[in-house]
Amino acid sequence: MAQAVKTKTSSRGKVSPARSEDQFAAVRTLFENRRAGYSLDAPFYTDPEVFAADMKGIFGQHWLFAASLAEIPEPGDYVTIDYGPYSLIILRTDEGVNALHNVCRHRGARVLTEPAGTTGNLVCGYHSWTYDAEGSLIHASSPGEINFDKACFSLKRAHSRVVAGLVFVCLAAEPPADFDEVSKIFEPYVAPHEIANAKVAFQQELIEEGNWKLVMENNRECYHCDGHPELACSLFPTWGLTEELVPPHLEDAWQRNVTAETALQERCNRYGLPYEVVEELDTRIAGIRISREPLDGAGESFSATGRRLSKKLLGDLRDFRLGRCSMHLQPNCWFHLLSDHVITFAAFPINEHQTLVRTTWLVADDAVEGVDYDLESLTYTWKQTNVQDKNFVEMCQQGAASPAYEPGPYMKSEYQVEAFINWYTQRMQEHLG
Ligand code: FES
Ligand SMILES: [Fe+2]
Repeated sequence: MAQAVKTKTSSRGKVSPARSEDQFAAVRTLFENRRAGYSLDAPFYTDPEVFAADMKGIFGQHWLFAASLAEIPEPGDYVTIDYGPYSLIILRTDEGVNALHNVCRHRGARVLTEPAGTTGNLVCGYHSWTYDAEGSLIHASSPGEINFDKACFSLKRAHSRVVAGLVFVCLAAEPPADFDEVSKIFEPYVAPHEIANAKVAFQQELIEEGNWKLVMENNRECYHCDGHPELACSLFPTWGLTEELVPPHLEDAWQRNVTAETALQERCNRYGLPYEVVEELDTRIAGIRISREPLDGAGESFSATGRRLSKKLLGDLRDFRLGRCSMHLQPNCWFHLLSDHVITFAAFPINEHQTLVRTTWLVADDAVEGVDYDLESLTYTWKQTNVQDKNFVEMCQQGAASPAYEPGPYMKSEYQVEAFINWYTQRMQEHLG
């Protein structure tokens, strides 16, 4: 179920911009000079001013994936997420989820310094100012203070909402409204996996030495998938191709894919699961691509044989052979939802040349490690794949930093990369005016 979580307008403070508009003039020119069909100019990946503009225009405006409910299963559970200059506390409450700026209203200290935990009230570690789960300041020991109105010093809030167990946040005063429509698109695909009733089996954090856009671009194409031998066992090597683009050496794989796809669609029809491709990467504000596609081999999971990696089905799914429901949501996340586990990926930019990628493996909450699943096997394929992708991203970041770099042309199979860049350019030009 989509669940809108109300935020108190009275305590949602304005977040000051880090730089003045004038400083974005050069950035605006970069966008105006962008060559369509080609990769971006180097400063988009290397320039701190562009990064600052991205933080305002993209990460300060759009809905971001923060965490799943499986990471904060009980009231009081929280995770902190940091991106660019921001730090947010994502707190489970009795009513839903609150997103609070992790900046103390006394002198600005980080209120919570752990990446995750459980807390009743939120107590700043510096002078012990204490906030409740709504962010209201409830205690500040200050002997002798008389003119001190605690009500004026609540933690600032961001918008948050939960859709199908996924928690999204938005820093904008007025969040983009088309997320309502996008939620309606993806909820029927995601909800059957019952993420809210799953548990975290493992979480991995990788700091990639690359700009956040390179991380997202790399994820939008499989032109490089020869570099993923583990993933190749379960992913058809024809992903991203259309029939006319299939080279002779992949014709067998193409046919295998067509057969598996027909069988998967029959199963989806039987169980009432949507599988159609919805691809609106550069045609709406919350760019999305979602589909359910077959897996190679046994077609159940990301293993070498395609066989299941957890014995427990998620939610009330009734079949292991459901392939992978894959979702990309701009600007910062992608997901693979299988019958036996879900993997969520979130990209949190650190600066212009570093990005944190947080990968979380979820299994049914009654799945027992060592009995129903083996953690090494469960995580093997994507641990390997993530390290390979990190290397690809870092190769590009190094190239972008070289004076010899100039934008190169996108190949046909890279149309989704181009769509992502189109989306980014449109959103930033709207923002920069
Ligand atoms: S900075 Fe948080 S209590 Fe002083
Ligand atoms: Fe990859």
